[in-house]
Amino acid sequence: MRSTPTKRRQRSLLAILVVVSGLLAFSASSLMGQGFRWPEEPENLQVLPENVKGRVLGQYMRGFASALGVRCSFCHVGEGPDLTQYDFPADDKLTKQKARVMIEMVQAINGSHLERLTELGVPAEERIEVTCMTCHRTNNRPVMLDDLLAATIDSAGVEAAIARYRELREEYYGGFAYNFGSGTLIGLGEQLAGEGEVDAAIAILELEIEVNGESSNVYFTLGGVQARADMREDAIASFEKGLALAPDQFKVFFQREIDRLRER
Ligand code: HEC
Ligand code: HEC
Repeated sequence: MRSTPTKRRQRSLLAILVVVSGLLAFSASSLMGQGFRWPEEPENLQVLPENVKGRVLGQYMRGFASALGVRCSFCHVGEGPDLTQYDFPADDKLTKQKARVMIEMVQAINGSHLERLTELGVPAEERIEVTCMTCHRTNNRPVMLDDLLAATIDSAGVEAAIARYRELREEYYGGFAYNFGSGTLIGLGEQLAGEGEVDAAIAILELEIEVNGESSNVYFTLGGVQARADMREDAIASFEKGLALAPDQFKVFFQREIDRLRER
């Protein structure tokens, strides 16, 4: 039961479509009332297939906007709510040109790479396809929070990175763009310690305790960083705090670190 190449192609093109979330469908529908019509004969489509026009073009464009958490003017020449004043065929904005590269990339991922899973016996109907949202998660630059913080530490120092974290958390907490869960800062703390950045690692782990609360995980990591930096008493204190919070089956790991440090 293999679908024909044309069917498969259509399917993967459709997969670029992003489900328009109720939240971000924003003004596009209300704009319809102001005389704007999705063109039945688009003038300048270079990568979207020919059957994309009219209402279908509208679904694609609203999908792009919601996946990136932006408005039409992010890619198109024009501003404000009156879409009749926009020049949609124009290619002036670099973001529109980048979007074309992205569309072709998604077509290649779904059409060439994931297609090879079908050859390995994964039925096409069961395959998950990549969409703009898969990577972008409402973020026009889909950077991972820990990578963003690590880059900020490199360029501007740990205080600047902590300030940036607080701003982002204020703005995006509860959304899909950044992962504010405890894994992010603990992982970053470990990475920094591995690079010998002990002070930055400790500052990041203290931020984790402040924003996400105390946990056995954060104290295990903090204790490990302090132990490696020869901060013996601090390390013991951290492992003891972790010991108190740890589930019974994990207490042994904390006890072992404490015993080892006391023997030094
Ligand atoms: C992430 C960038 C991006 C966003 C956001 C975006 N578009 Fe587009 N749009 C494109 C690209 C790229 C094309 C051209 C596709 C191609 O070359 O096949 C396009 C084409 C169009 C066209 C066809 C123009 C023509 O005649 O050639 C219209 C109309 C359009 N967009 C409207 C919108 C509207 C309305 C919105 C907001 C709801 C929107 N777009 C949001 C990137 C975007
Ligand atoms: C496989 C992951 C992935 C997918 C899928 C993906 N993107 Fe991207 N996109 C990225 C990355 C990574 C960047 C940042 C590249 C850079 O500038 O370093 C980016 C950047 C962009 C930019 C430039 C943003 C800016 O501020 O300069 C646009 C526009 C964009 N993507 C549109 C799209 C659209 C539209 C889709 C769906 C057709 C899409 N992307 C699908 C990973 C992805």
